[in-house]
Amino acid sequence: MPKRTTIRDIQAKANDGQKLSMVTAYDAFSAKLIEQAGIDIALVGDSVGTTLQGRPDTLGVEIEHMLYHTEIVARSTERILVIGDMPFGSYQVNEDEAVRNAVAFMKAGAHAVKLEGGASVMPLIERMSDAGIPVMGHLGFTPQSVNITSGPRVNKARDELMEDAESLADAGVFAIVLEMVPAKIAQEITSAIGVPTIGIGAGAHTNGQVLVFHDMLGFDPDFNPKFLKRFMDFHGQALDALKKYKEEVENGQFPNESQSY
Ligand code: KIV
Repeated sequence: MPKRTTIRDIQAKANDGQKLSMVTAYDAFSAKLIEQAGIDIALVGDSVGTTLQGRPDTLGVEIEHMLYHTEIVARSTERILVIGDMPFGSYQVNEDEAVRNAVAFMKAGAHAVKLEGGASVMPLIERMSDAGIPVMGHLGFTPQSVNITSGPRVNKARDELMEDAESLADAGVFAIVLEMVPAKIAQEITSAIGVPTIGIGAGAHTNGQVLVFHDMLGFDPDFNPKFLKRFMDFHGQALDALKKYKEEVENGQFPNESQSY
C-alpha cells in the first residue's frame, strides 16, 4: 500500500524550496484524478457549495455535506493528504463545538482541517492542535466573511495580514492559504513566517498554489476571476460531446453493431 503524504512531508517539501500543489476534490472521480496527477494535497473545500450545490456562495454549506464529501475523498485515495474545510457555522459558535466538529472531520478520514480567520481563531487552532488535529489557516479574502467584505476582496492592510499570519503560525497551523493577497504582501508573509503558504490569486512567491478543480478545468465559462488559469475547456468539450451524442442518437449512428449485444 502506498504511503500517505504527511504534514511533515508537506513541510519538508516546502523547506526544500519545492512548490506545493493543492486542488479541491469532492468526489471519487476528482479525488482519484488529482492523486493520479501527483498533486500533493486534496482540499475538500466548502467551494462545493458553488461548484456542485449551485449556491451563490459557501455560506449554506453544512457540516454534514462536508463530512459526506470528506469521507468519499478519503476512501477513494491512498496517497494524497486530505484536508477537510470547516464550513461556515461549524467553528464560529463556541470552541467546544468547533473542536467536536474538527474531530468529526478526522473521523470521516481527513488528515487535517482548514478554517478561515486571523488572530481571533488562535485559541481554536491551539485547542485543535492539542487534540491532535493539524490545522491549515486561511487569510486574505475569506469567502465565509463575504457579507463583511461586501464581495470577493481583502479588507485588511499589510500589517494586519502580517500579524494574522504570525498569530496563526504561533498558534500552530501547518500551512496557510493566502487568497487574493497582493503578490508583494504574500511574498513578505512567506519569507517572514516559518510555515508554508499556499496561494490562490496571491502571486508566484508563495510556497504553493491551490485552485478549485472545476475552475481550473473550465467547467464554468462564466467564472472569470483575474487569478484563474484554465488548464482545459471542459465546458466546451463536454458540450460538443453531448451535442454529438444527441445527433448520433437521432440519426441512428449510435449505437452501432459493435455497441450492441
Ligand atoms: O473552499 C475552497 O475551495 C477553498 C480554496 C479556494 C482555498 O477554500
